[in-house]
Amino acid sequence: MDPTTSSSWKRLVARTDVASLPTIAELFQADAHRAEAMSVDITLPNGAMVVDFSKQHVTPDVLEALLTYADEAGVADARDAMFAGGIVNLTEAQPALHTALRARATERVMIDGSDVVAEVHAERERLAAFARDVRSGITHAADGRPFTHVLNIGIGGSDLGPALAYAAWSASRKPDLECRFVSNVDPVSLEATLDALDPARTLVVMCSKSFSTAETVANCRDVQAWLAAALGSESVATHSVVVTAQPSRVAATALVARCTFASWKWVGGRYSISSSMNLANAIAFGPEVIDEFLDGMNAMDAHFRSAEPRRNAPLLLALINLWNRTLLGRPTRAMLVYQDALAGFVDYIQQLEMESNGKSVRRDGGSVTVDTAPIVWGGVGTNAQHAFMQLVHQGTTVVPVDFIGVAHTSARNAARHDELIANMFAQAEALAFGRDEAAVRRSGVDAAAAPHRVAPGNRPSTTILVSSLSPSTLGALIALYEHAVFVHGVLLDINSFDQWGVELGKHLANSVIEDLGRTDVVASHDASTTRLLQWYRQHR
Ligand code: F6P
Repeated sequence: MDPTTSSSWKRLVARTDVASLPTIAELFQADAHRAEAMSVDITLPNGAMVVDFSKQHVTPDVLEALLTYADEAGVADARDAMFAGGIVNLTEAQPALHTALRARATERVMIDGSDVVAEVHAERERLAAFARDVRSGITHAADGRPFTHVLNIGIGGSDLGPALAYAAWSASRKPDLECRFVSNVDPVSLEATLDALDPARTLVVMCSKSFSTAETVANCRDVQAWLAAALGSESVATHSVVVTAQPSRVAATALVARCTFASWKWVGGRYSISSSMNLANAIAFGPEVIDEFLDGMNAMDAHFRSAEPRRNAPLLLALINLWNRTLLGRPTRAMLVYQDALAGFVDYIQQLEMESNGKSVRRDGGSVTVDTAPIVWGGVGTNAQHAFMQLVHQGTTVVPVDFIGVAHTSARNAARHDELIANMFAQAEALAFGRDEAAVRRSGVDAAAAPHRVAPGNRPSTTILVSSLSPSTLGALIALYEHAVFVHGVLLDINSFDQWGVELGKHLANSVIEDLGRTDVVASHDASTTRLLQWYRQHR
């Protein structure tokens, strides 16, 4: 459905003149219960989350129209179809069943006559047993001694999730085996990583859904050559395992491994953190930690499936995204995480959202008629306050912000943590309510200087707080955004589960790589690329 054809859409468009909307401050003055009405509290296993939308520039009337539009767009049916294994990824003719990866063992989801939940649980148990054996030393290195380090090789969804989880969980618990992550095909990074590792103590986890990603295959080859040089080629497989949805492709790469763990075609790369792709962390922290993580995700799945629309956090997050990006034309959304250990969350959501909804074609192949995904960017608080927040407060582009913070700190100095979170609350307050010239003048600033210090305010944000940074709350946080991205795709009538746009660059890279290997004049590219290629060849 072309969104613009729906009646509630017209109602929404009629309210997009921001200057005629009550300001965020006026919305709070008009409704003493706004904070409660627009906050969603979610109970999680061993924790809790609150999502506060009240500082978004959304009037009750706009919220009504957004909820009506979600109904017209068929969000509930689309959600239920996804959970049931419906073919929601039309261009790849696949279900999107990342939710089955954390379903309870009692649940059943049938695909082609087989229950994928049973399959998933069997694989989870196999992976857990392997992780336990590596941790205990039963599964050991070629010299018979235990592994002490894990090197995860993967890119995109086969890297960002595992790396995020490792950093987040390392903040409150010491990993029993240390992990390193290699993703880019940058030899400087790979060599620096390998120089800091002992091949005799290192287990390599080769992660790739497709097992055809050039960077990952190249890095795996370099790493297996490093293992062979140090340990002998007969020991390489002992130090290597594979995680993939395409086991049949591994042989073609000549890479070897002692065993392979499954992901599935019906799990998108950027939705695969709840699959075997998290093996490195199962080894580093123990499979029980992965169970906690998946329980947190499952709790958010249950919330998404059962909470009524007005109290449904993924739905509201998606509707507000639609309002800001598509209806009010705000091109970007910033993510500010107020915990260094969550720095990787911004990159993670960038891939999740921009690779999912960065589309210009609707599910039926017709061109979209509205703007789709925002550009997602961001950083860590409070560093960001001393970097780009100047623009977010006083710039000419309104940037909606998602603030993410953690209540209970694992640090000894809790008072310092209070300071960190106080800054997060203050940033959201300053954005929403600002400071006008009169207030600036009242603070003793002279007339000439006052205009420079005015904070316009009326700038929207959502604040998400989790009770602590545990495996469960990280799981719930990730699942919250997975579902919000899915709903946003339904509202825009686009397929959130393919990523055809990444293929052309990969294809062209192959021909450029070939040309870089030649010595004669290359004329197969445009004049600019040809000239740059020549320049590069002269200077490398
Ligand atoms: O090129 C994009 C992409 O396919 C992502 O969707 C994916 O997460 C990443 O590359 C890595 O893919 P794979 O896990 O198949 O190596």
